Amino acid sequence: MQNTVNILVLVSGNGSNLQALINADQRGELGVGRIAAALADRAGVYALERARLANVPALVKTPNMTLPIARRRQDLSDRVLQFCRERDIGLIVLAGFLSILAGDIIREYAGRIINLHPSLLPKFGGVGMYGERVHQAVLDAGEPESGCTVHLVNAGTDTGPILLQRRVPVLAGDTAATLAERIHHEEHIAIVEGAALMAARIAAS
Ligand code: GRF
Repeated sequence: MQNTVNILVLVSGNGSNLQALINADQRGELGVGRIAAALADRAGVYALERARLANVPALVKTPNMTLPIARRRQDLSDRVLQFCRERDIGLIVLAGFLSILAGDIIREYAGRIINLHPSLLPKFGGVGMYGERVHQAVLDAGEPESGCTVHLVNAGTDTGPILLQRRVPVLAGDTAATLAERIHHEEHIAIVEGAALMAARIAAS
C-alpha cells in the first residue's frame, strides 16, 4: 500500500487549474496524490473561493513589500516552506502562481515542485513571459502551433526538466485571447496528468 502524497497548489488568480486538480482528486484521478491545500500570494482571488467551496484548506501568504525584491522572494518562499514541513506536503504544484520561489524550498523540494506554463517550452518562457504576453509573442512570431508545458522547477525561470507537453494549432484569425482559451483547455488535462505522475513517482521513491 503506497502512502498518500499531500499536494499543495500555489495560485494567484482565477484558479481554473486548481479546479481541474480538485475535480480530478474527487474522481480519484490523482492516484496516490491528494489536494491537501491551496495557497495564494494575494487575498481575494477566485482560486481561494474554489478551494473553500471544495472544502480544501485555503490560505494566503502575501509578499512583504517592505523588503527588497531578493529578500522578499526568500521570505515568502521560507514561509511557504515552513507550511510544507508542518503539513507534510510531498508535492508542490505551481498553477498560475506569480511569485518566484527561491532559496531553501528549491533545494529541499528539488524534484517535487512542478510548474504549468502556457507555451511549448523552451519557446516563449522566462522572465516576463506570462499571461497574454506569451500568446501574443507566439502570434507575433508566426508559430504554427503552441501549447502548454508541465515542468520541474529549478532555480531558473521556466528552465527545469520538462515532464509533459500538450500541443494545439494556431488558427488563422487567432487573437491572444482565443489562443489562450484553446491552451487553457489542454492545461486542465496536463496539470492533472503531471500531478498524478509526480505523486506516483514520489510515493515510489
Ligand atoms: C495558466 O495559463 C498557467 O499556464 C499560467 O497561469 C495560468 C493560470 O490560470 N501559469 P488559472 O488561474 O489556473 O485559471
